[in-house]
Amino acid sequence: MKILVTYDMFREGFAELESKYEVTFPEGRDFTYEEVFEMIPEYDVLCSMFDFPVNKELIDHAPKLRLIANYAVGYNNIDVAYALEKGLTVANTPDPVTAPTANIALGLMLDTARRITECDRKLRTLGKDMKVGVLENLGMPVTGQTLGIIGMGRIGKALAKRANALGMEVIYHNRRQLYIEDETKLNVTYVSKEELLAKADFVSLNAPYTPDTYHIIGEEEFKQMKPSAILINTARGPLVDEHALVKALREGTIHGAGLDVFEFGDYPLPELLEMDNVVLTPHIGTQTMETRIIMARTVCNNVIGFLEGDRPVSRVLRP
Ligand code: GLV
Repeated sequence: MKILVTYDMFREGFAELESKYEVTFPEGRDFTYEEVFEMIPEYDVLCSMFDFPVNKELIDHAPKLRLIANYAVGYNNIDVAYALEKGLTVANTPDPVTAPTANIALGLMLDTARRITECDRKLRTLGKDMKVGVLENLGMPVTGQTLGIIGMGRIGKALAKRANALGMEVIYHNRRQLYIEDETKLNVTYVSKEELLAKADFVSLNAPYTPDTYHIIGEEEFKQMKPSAILINTARGPLVDEHALVKALREGTIHGAGLDVFEFGDYPLPELLEMDNVVLTPHIGTQTMETRIIMARTVCNNVIGFLEGDRPVSRVLRP
C-alpha cells in the first residue's frame, strides 16, 4: 500500500502511518502538481493539502487510487463529484479545525471593531504624530451587538458560543435550520439571509465553498447591510466578491472587514492593503503547531480507518 503526501508537514503527526505503510513526503517544500501527476499512478492513497488541485485529469491518471484524504475541513480543491463517481473515497478533517478557526474569526471581529491592529500600526509608524485622546480612535462596542453567522456548521456553532460569552445576540442563516434544541442550547435565532444582512452588526462567513456559495456576498448584499457593519471571512475567499468589497468599503456602504482568506489566491487585492478599516491575515485560521499536528493525525486516522476499518473515517459524502 503506497501513500503520497503532497505537502511538507511536522512528521510527528504522521508517525503511526509511517510505522505501518510506505509514505512518500516532499522534503522542505510541497510537491508541485506536475510532480504529483507524475508519481500518482503508483499510489493507492493521496493525502492532499487544501490548496492542492485534485482534478479529473489527476484522478484519471491514478488507476490504483482509492482514497483522497484532504488536510482540511474544506474540500473545494477536490473534484468530489468526479472522485465519488469513480468510486473513490474522499475524507476531511473537521474536528481539529473548529476551535482554531472560530478563534481567528473572533479575533478578527474584535480587532476590526476595536481597531487594535490599526492603532498598533499607527503608533509604530506615526509615533507621537498619531492622534490620541479620549475622543480619538473610537470603535464599535461588540458586546450588545448582533452577530449574523452565515453557515451554521461546526465552526459557526463554535463562533456562536464565543459570541454569546461576549454578550452578543446571535442570528444565523444556513441551508437547513438547526433543531430547536440546538438553537436553544446555542442561544441562536434562524433568519433569512435578507434579515441577517439587514440586522447584523457583524456578518461572519462560515460556510463551505461550493457553486452555491460563490459570491454569496457581493454588491447586492453589501447594499442590504448596515453602513456600520463589519464583514468577517474565515471560510474561503471566493465567498466574497472582493472587487465589490473594495467598492463597498470605499463608498461607506459597510464599515469594515476582517479577512483571513482572499478571492484571488494567497494575497488580497492591493486596494485592501491601503484601508485602515480592514484587518488582513494570510489564511492562518488553523495555524498553530498543535493544530497542524492534530490535523495530520486526523488525516492518518482517516487513512488507517479506511484501510483497516478499525476507526471512523470522516467521509465527504457529496460535493
Ligand atoms: C482550512 O482552511 C480548512 O479547510 O481546514
